[in-house]
Amino acid sequence: MWQTNLKVLAVVLGTLAVFTIVSSSIPQLQSVVPEDLSFSGDVTAEVLVAAGQTLFEGAGGCADCHGSGTRAPNLLADEAGTGLIGVRCASRVAGQDCKAYLYASLVDPNAYLVEGYVPIMADMSRTLSSEQLWALVAYLQSLGGEVTVTGADIESEGSGESTGAAVPASAAAAGPTSTSTDPVEIMTANACLACHIMDGAGAPIGPSFDGIGGRLSADYIRESILDPRAGASEGFGALIQLMPATFGEQLSAAQLEAIVQFLTDRR
Ligand code: HEC
Ligand code: HEC
Repeated sequence: MWQTNLKVLAVVLGTLAVFTIVSSSIPQLQSVVPEDLSFSGDVTAEVLVAAGQTLFEGAGGCADCHGSGTRAPNLLADEAGTGLIGVRCASRVAGQDCKAYLYASLVDPNAYLVEGYVPIMADMSRTLSSEQLWALVAYLQSLGGEVTVTGADIESEGSGESTGAAVPASAAAAGPTSTSTDPVEIMTANACLACHIMDGAGAPIGPSFDGIGGRLSADYIRESILDPRAGASEGFGALIQLMPATFGEQLSAAQLEAIVQFLTDRR
């Protein structure tokens, strides 16, 4: 009898072990997809601010850079004597009021660069809907200033998208990266060279792509793109939060493999 029990136990343990091994070998894509937002035309400032705060602290990914206050201006406190973001937004760019400046900071972040910072912020309209962008503007205005965003701002974006139901966040994220499988085109569309050097172009924020295939295996490169938080490259420990964790969603499997192959061949 105890022999049968032992066999049953062995089978159970064996099965568990197999499942553990299999599940841990599947790459874990942890990037969070921001929840879709949908507002009516008479949405209140309070509702917008609350939605914006949730996005800012969570799935919007803003805190990745703006949290520590070193690689990006502090948005929750005074920045170099210019006041809270809801205050300084009004005096950043001549001719742009607070609302216009904040919206531009999100969709065209390099148009005006805050002094002392590197242009690493991406165009947020690539991953966020019009509703989400305006909710963030409302939240940032609420930090020291008056919220002037209304439902009309969102609607004036027009073209049906503002009904909220139309575009799922994941589709919006996949859109602008193009369907090309040419590795250089994909990397251009995803702004990899905003942080990596290749053939003398790009910025040295992350490790150089020159000779990367001689240093790293295809598996390691793939893993670095899919799950950049997993392990920092040598000498880049403090920057580990910088590499966007959204490429797993933005790239198709074919595009990912095209990049991995291309980089692995760069010996
Ligand atoms: C990859 C890092 C990064 C991420 C992610 C990021 N930002 Fe930024 N952001 C920056 C940097 C660096 C600057 C300063 C340079 C510039 O002006 O573009 C900046 C500037 C800004 C400014 C202008 C600040 C000022 O003092 O005038 C605003 C507003 C802003 N970001 C909002 C956001 C919001 C909201 C999000 C999330 C949706 C976000 N950022 C995500 C790096 C980032
Ligand atoms: C906002 C800056 C930024 C962008 C954009 C970015 N990266 Fe990175 N990347 C980094 C940083 C910083 C590191 C080093 C820290 C780490 O390992 O996570 C890194 C590490 C890597 C590594 C590992 C290199 C090594 O030596 O270990 C690979 C591969 C990589 N990135 C590929 C890409 C590709 C492909 C893209 C575009 C699809 C991209 N990165 C976009 C900042 C960025």
